[in-house]
Amino acid sequence: MAIEPAKDAAAKPSYYITTPIYYCNAKPHLGTAYSTIVCDTQARFRRMDGYDVKFLTGLDEHGQKVADSAAAHGMTPQQWVDSMVPDFADLWRTLEISNDDFIRTTQPRHVRSVQHFWEVMRDRGYIYKGSYEGWYCVPEETYFTETDVRHAEANKDRPADAPVCPDCGRPLERISEESWFFKLSEFQKPLLDFYDAHPDFIQPEIRYNEVRSFVEGGLKDLSVTRTSFDWGIPLPFDQRHVTYVWFDALINYLTAVGYGDPEKADELAFRWPAQTHVVGKDIIRFHCVIWPAMLMAAGLAVPEHVLAHGFLLVRGADGRGEKMSKSRGNAIAPQQVLDLLGVEGYRYYFMTDVAHGADGAISFERMAQVYNADLANSWGNLVSRTLNMSAKYFDGASPARGDGYAERESPLRDAAADVYERYAKAMGAFDYQAGAREAMALAEAANLYIEQSAPWALAKDPSRADDLAFVIWGLLETIRLCAVLLAPITPATSAEVMRRLSLPTEPTDDLRAACAWGQFEGGSPVVKGDALFPRLDADAVAAAAQA
Ligand code: MSP
Repeated sequence: MAIEPAKDAAAKPSYYITTPIYYCNAKPHLGTAYSTIVCDTQARFRRMDGYDVKFLTGLDEHGQKVADSAAAHGMTPQQWVDSMVPDFADLWRTLEISNDDFIRTTQPRHVRSVQHFWEVMRDRGYIYKGSYEGWYCVPEETYFTETDVRHAEANKDRPADAPVCPDCGRPLERISEESWFFKLSEFQKPLLDFYDAHPDFIQPEIRYNEVRSFVEGGLKDLSVTRTSFDWGIPLPFDQRHVTYVWFDALINYLTAVGYGDPEKADELAFRWPAQTHVVGKDIIRFHCVIWPAMLMAAGLAVPEHVLAHGFLLVRGADGRGEKMSKSRGNAIAPQQVLDLLGVEGYRYYFMTDVAHGADGAISFERMAQVYNADLANSWGNLVSRTLNMSAKYFDGASPARGDGYAERESPLRDAAADVYERYAKAMGAFDYQAGAREAMALAEAANLYIEQSAPWALAKDPSRADDLAFVIWGLLETIRLCAVLLAPITPATSAEVMRRLSLPTEPTDDLRAACAWGQFEGGSPVVKGDALFPRLDADAVAAAAQA
């Protein structure tokens, strides 16, 4: 294929996407990996579709919970957070996460950015000093009102002196201390106006409605500093106070694009506002209420979209989803899934079998089903059959594209018509199920085409040599297209398929052009290689479940 001149990077629009920053009091798990792969897939798709992408992930390292974990392990908080970094970095590397930056909230750039934010808050009059009294859930790092707490008590039938967290059910602590407050109550109207003007700010819609009615119910000022512990970012003008961990954490999205650093004003102007914050449904209030209010208070633009995904639940005996937990003994570790499906199978399963925005009930049986049906039988099988035939009938090579091949009628050409439009619409809307379906539909059409055109019969008839070349060429072109479409989800497999076709293995940055039918020039060596996705049997599933 002709090598195109590099595009002018400055001309590409920015696409800034973020994962939540993860608490480092626990190792990365299936849920945090899920948020991260959702972002990675989008980042890869956008790079291919011509955007200048910045994909950010990182760690949320402050707060009492982290300080407590450190103490329990006999370490200083800094030693503790440093010790957790490799667990995340290693898993992200294994899962082919292509983040452009990795932020840690203990980095000097973040401390500077949060302190700058404080000064802006003070100068613009959105904070004041008062006294905080209320209930605090240490594990969730969240404050609760009396109403929330009474509600929890009623539900759990607890005595009045032992309130529990309405979210996690663990005991709450009574806290009374001097605190700085953020005037969140002033933002009810601006937030409602903002939601009205940007109905696609929160996706999916069910979350939009949830957030909107929460804000309609009224907003109270938020206590955003603590004096009871010191593992946090001190206020520049009141050093006894450290920043409440959520206030600190949300600002990470600004820090990473240069906020608070006068030398990075251009970067901030180019990158902000972010296009998408991907979050789990449990943390949307922070991202859709507090964060926009903080940004409005600071005179900054609000991000374009907050995408809330569902929770991964384990499929119980009755087929319904249950929360994963150590005590129930039903938690699945990323390594178990990696052992069963490999990295590419892992990514494919989670990105295509868990419906966008909904909770997903996962099981090892279902993983093997999806892997076998789509990756082994449809896609992997197509690649090995076609490459074998090409190598056999064309002496280890692909047939060269003949005159008029690209325009000639074929069911594969029909199947590929307008695929870019359908695929890009689905992927851009985070509907990876529909995006992958485009590729699988092509693979299935190609498998059917093999049966119908019977290349083995054409190969026996010298007068049909051109038909044979056209059929195999069309199959190879379809494989090239599938590899392009699957690259955001299964990047290593797509690169491997390109290598087997003697094509460049770097993903395209002009997806529309790469999706056009008829580009494969052929006439180059093909590599048969091993099966891309060897079939899984019931024994493999049983072994994974027991590991
Ligand atoms: N530190 C905060 C985020 C601050 S962002 C400014 C936090 N961290 S977390 O480590 O608890 O996890 C964050 C992400 O993992 C959330 O998006 C959460 O929804 C996701 N998941 C945790 N368990 C999950 C599942 N079982 N399933 C899917 N995702 C879940 O919150």
